[in-house]
Formats: sequence, structure tokens, C-alpha cells
Amino acid sequence: MKFFADTAEIADIQRLAATGLIDGVTTNPSLINKSGRDFIEVTKEICALTDGPVSAEVIALDHATMMKEANVLRKIAENVCIKVPLTIDGLKTCKALTDEGAMVNVTLCFSAAQALLAAKAGATFVSPFVGRHDDNGFDGMQLIADIRLIYDNYDYNTQILVASVRHAIHILEAAKIGADAITAPPAVIEGLFRHILTEKGIEGFLADWAKTDQSIL
Ligand code: E4P
Repeated sequence: MKFFADTAEIADIQRLAATGLIDGVTTNPSLINKSGRDFIEVTKEICALTDGPVSAEVIALDHATMMKEANVLRKIAENVCIKVPLTIDGLKTCKALTDEGAMVNVTLCFSAAQALLAAKAGATFVSPFVGRHDDNGFDGMQLIADIRLIYDNYDYNTQILVASVRHAIHILEAAKIGADAITAPPAVIEGLFRHILTEKGIEGFLADWAKTDQSIL
């Protein structure tokens, strides 16, 4: 399963990239706003920190302008993945860009029918937002299971990128269903490393080791 960091904070990406466990980065206009950085500049810096896809989102709502924006974003680096919203114009743009060989992440997916359309448009990734789905009284993980079933029925290559992840259980459930990737805030990814019994175990081993009066080095 691929792990993407859902952030535009350079320090967070550097810290996560150093673990060797991060396969790419996703950003969106809200995350760019939160970073306080220039969109193009920060995207360039992020692309240099990972070999994996870095999702950068178009702002326009019409196909022609989306294409113009995508062409600007594609010049930033080889690993830029153009993020388009799940609308008719977004999917039209997705089709045109993937036909040209660009990576495309179709974002703001909230139904299996929408995900089916994204696959038909040749999307590299589809991003179903599980957290926002749950927040509104729907079952986010059922959406992931439905998309997995549909994609497997037709051997679609579009990767399911579980987005709007709020906690570790979302990641575990997505992995059990067989989602291809998740994108999560750095704090959620870092939370996966921690377990109280691991910490207690280390404490106990170190206390006993001290009593042996030995050293490895
Ligand atoms: C995905 O690519 C989005 O950037 C992100 O996962 C949205 O998450 P949110 O619902 O926490 O804003």
C-alpha cells in the first residue's frame, strides 16, 4: 500500500521522507493556503523531496482553463500529478491529460458511480474522501469497498487513493479492503508508529540491559 503525506509543510515532508516510508505527497488549495507559501514554489520544493507523485490541484472549473493551469503545473517537475475535481469538466480534463501521458488524481469523489466515471476517464488515482463522507453520516469505508469491487470487476488500473483520512483505523480498514494508497496528515502517519506496549517494552528491556553492565559498541 502506498502512503502519501497530505500536507504542503516542507518540514513535515522532510521528516516523513527520511523514514523511507512515504511514496508521494498530496496537496490541495486549503493546504497551500495553510502553508502560507507560493503554490508553484512550494510544489517545486515538494517535488524535489520525493520521487513519487505530488498532487497539485487546478483551480479553474472549466475544461479549457483547467488545461492551461495543468500545463503550467506540469512544467514544475516530472513527478507532478494534476489534481482535478470530479465534475464533467474535470473528467474531460482528466481524459485529455492522461491521453497525453500525464498523471491525474481525480479528487472530491463521494460515490462509487463517480469513481467508475473517473476510471473510465483514465484517472491514475481517484480520491474518495472517507473522513468527510463519515462526517456527513455516510459510511466512508463502504465507499472504498464498493469502488474496489467495481474496479476489480473490470480490471480498471485507476488506483484507489483513500483521502480525508482522520485516524489509524481508516488506514487499517483501507488496507484490509485492498485500497492502493492512502493520503493522511503527517500526525496520523506518525501515530501509526506508536504503541504504548512498544514503549513500555523498550523501557523494560533497557532497564534490564543496564543491570548486565554490558555494551554492544
Ligand atoms: C486529498 O487529496 C485531500 O487533500 C485531503 O485528503 C482532504 O482531507 P480533509 O477532509 O481532511 O480536508
